[in-house]
Amino acid sequence: MDPSTSGFAQKLAEASQSHLLQFWNELSPEEQADLTHDLQGMDFQEINGFFKSAMETSSSSKQEKMDARMEPVPREVLGSVTRDRESLKDWELAGLHCVSQSKVAVLLLAGGQGTRLGVSYPKGMYDVGLPSHKTLFQIQAERIVKLQQLAEQKHKIKCCIPWYIMTSGRTMESTKEYFSKHNYFGLDKDNIIFFQQGMLPAMDYQGKIILENKGKLSMAPDGNGGLYRALGNQGIMDDMERRGVEYIHVYCVDNVLVKVADPAFVGFCVQKGADCGAKVVEKTNPTEAVGVVCKVDGRYQVVEYSEITLATAEKRSADGRLMFNSGNVANHFFSFSFLRDIVQKYEPKLQHHVAQKKIPYVNPQGQLIKPDKPNGIKMEKFVFDIFQFAKTFVVFEVLREDEFSPLKNADSQDGKDTPTTARHTLMSLHHRWVLNAGGHFIDENGRRVPAIPSLKDGTDLPIKCEISPLVSYGGEGLEELVKGREFHPTLMIDENGVHELVKNGV
Ligand code: UD1
Repeated sequence: MDPSTSGFAQKLAEASQSHLLQFWNELSPEEQADLTHDLQGMDFQEINGFFKSAMETSSSSKQEKMDARMEPVPREVLGSVTRDRESLKDWELAGLHCVSQSKVAVLLLAGGQGTRLGVSYPKGMYDVGLPSHKTLFQIQAERIVKLQQLAEQKHKIKCCIPWYIMTSGRTMESTKEYFSKHNYFGLDKDNIIFFQQGMLPAMDYQGKIILENKGKLSMAPDGNGGLYRALGNQGIMDDMERRGVEYIHVYCVDNVLVKVADPAFVGFCVQKGADCGAKVVEKTNPTEAVGVVCKVDGRYQVVEYSEITLATAEKRSADGRLMFNSGNVANHFFSFSFLRDIVQKYEPKLQHHVAQKKIPYVNPQGQLIKPDKPNGIKMEKFVFDIFQFAKTFVVFEVLREDEFSPLKNADSQDGKDTPTTARHTLMSLHHRWVLNAGGHFIDENGRRVPAIPSLKDGTDLPIKCEISPLVSYGGEGLEELVKGREFHPTLMIDENGVHELVKNGV
């Protein structure tokens, strides 16, 4: 194709994006074909429109005004695993019943690029260094297997939890290949449905699309809120309808403790008649990188950590706790009909958020520049931006130590949300499960380790203990395996039995 004669150059000129062809004559025929292919797939007027409105809504004066309009989540929409203990069993039973009816699906957001963790493969394939070396994907898959079994045993009926996995152009092939290589971790291949979110170009502050090299646009996934467009244009809502899915648990890939299709959360939302729900943990540190669930202008919303001002993040209630303390753990509940309405009616109303980034680019002289300060923006929709459309919205508060330990960063000294913290929180949860089921640990001198181990040598390493999700989903079913027994760490309990990997420190 010759851009000057094809009318294509004209289209770019109308959208003020002619610079994308500035190196055309220097490209090889293959590079020209690739660039043509990429450009033909783009609606420049739409992209320019996204840029304009995203820049308007992200202006700092608007953000400050938003702070003034924020209100905490009212008590009446909150359910809590600690304060509502008497209802918890009922919620769990109700959720498990829904699972047994094959009405519950899980939807994993796995289209992110894992930039902070710094790996070149999908984050779900990361091994945080547990004794079993299971990856995040495997842990999640096995929790689904186990939950299906628990529902089947309880209700004497065969059931399935379909698993929808959103990937991006960058992660699709490797994710699919990984699952196939591992035989879908014991799940039925037909019940794992991969689909792909869209991509958007990075732009400079004037709205010009950035070239990452002479023949290639700088592209990134369109945010985890790209979900809604992808659900519609890839036939996923139809698939859910065909399967009779009524409730969907949406979650992020990086939380090693995630309770996939959590019956308590699902049951709570269903019993409250909610069309939309969010799981939260108490945010105790004003600068923790979690969004806060709150109301803005009377509508539910998550105000993201990148968009709240410090003054608001630090505000405290009369009881001394943070005023905005409902920390978003990126676990959401949607009814099917709510999700369908979003996909069919509301998706176009969602605004893109702006992230200022250092984006490598080629300058007009054709040199590749790696900027040391932000030079442009990426535009992203956020998964929780649909809360505003909910008719009945609820919030479910859970315990951080039981349910939230995300993997965001590579290991570093005193690092937060790293492979080490993920591994430690999971082992410390499993340690508590063993203690609660009547088991004990003994140290290398044959002495019982106290339930709350004292700090040794200034370290607070957890007892090495891992329980396969195939054995226990949430701490249940362990008594017959551990009650009255003493174990040397490393303790591993899996479908083949109870193993002590290292005895007497050998
Ligand atoms: C996210 C939440 C934040 C929450 C925190 C908890 C969003 C927008 N923010 O922040 O409120 O407190 O998790 O850990 O949800 N993803 C895609 N496509 C994309 C971008 C991301 O599927 O285009 C997926 C990622 O694979 C990941 C999830 O979305 O599973 C969250 O992405 P990440 O960038 O890690 O979000 P945070 O900024 O940590």
